[in-house]
Amino acid sequence: MFRDRGIEIKTPAQVDRMRAAGLVVGRTLELLRTTARAGITTGELDQIAEDAIRSSGAVPSFLGYSTPPYPATICASVNDEVVHGIPGGRVLAEGDILSVDCGAIVDGWHGDAAVTMPIGEITDEARELMRVTEEALWQGIAAARLGGRVGDISRAVESYVDSQGPFGIVEDYTGHGIGTAMHEPPDVPNRGRPRRGPRLVQGLALAVEPMVVLGSQENVVRDDEWTVVTRDGSLAAHFEHTFTLTERGAWVLTALDGGEERLTAMGVPFGGR
Ligand code: MF3
Ligand code: CO
Repeated sequence: MFRDRGIEIKTPAQVDRMRAAGLVVGRTLELLRTTARAGITTGELDQIAEDAIRSSGAVPSFLGYSTPPYPATICASVNDEVVHGIPGGRVLAEGDILSVDCGAIVDGWHGDAAVTMPIGEITDEARELMRVTEEALWQGIAAARLGGRVGDISRAVESYVDSQGPFGIVEDYTGHGIGTAMHEPPDVPNRGRPRRGPRLVQGLALAVEPMVVLGSQENVVRDDEWTVVTRDGSLAAHFEHTFTLTERGAWVLTALDGGEERLTAMGVPFGGR
């Protein structure tokens, strides 16, 4: 069912199918986290992800997406690559940080999530960038309440990142609604004003995805027409989850535990089933 502004509202049974898609994505990212190491190529990780998704009875959602058609199952963005890095022959090296974004479809319903992972020993500043970006994602989810607004999420992400130091937040790309399509209204910006924007209601599903950099948020798209890199070459991190709000609280559909541990630690009601 679609409401005003094209926002798709899911029934509980439909949310359960999104949970199935979310678990495929969450498990695939977990597999890649244990597989990624110095010496492996991003193309090999892509093949592992495609096999994992298909053997779960799901379909990769990125493959063939948009124009020019996205050519792979995952996005693999290394170091100064912010998002949409195309997997291939690049060999990961000790000290790299790798952002993997992954999407899958189960019975027509989408899940979408991303995680930045260290390759071996990384610098303290890279580790801090990753910590701040992941925590900003959870702060955004934790700020979402029934009756609230999308801007509450945006402001929580923004406030957390800004409170942690002189980080850049990439504003050219945003989170999004998700359901029968990967990208649906509304946009979920990583900066914004509280109590503004579409209302947060039961049956809404959103992908929140802060992209945070050590330098300037200015970025360019490479000649491959996909890979987004920082203009100043500074490191970037990207974390993303798909979540929904039930009558009881937030349910993180792409987290293996539904977000229960992290939300509970933050004092936020867990709404999963
Ligand atoms: N998953 C990305 C997002 O979070 C989109 C990937 S673009 C694609 O919105 F072409 F790779 F699919
Ligand atoms: Co997304």
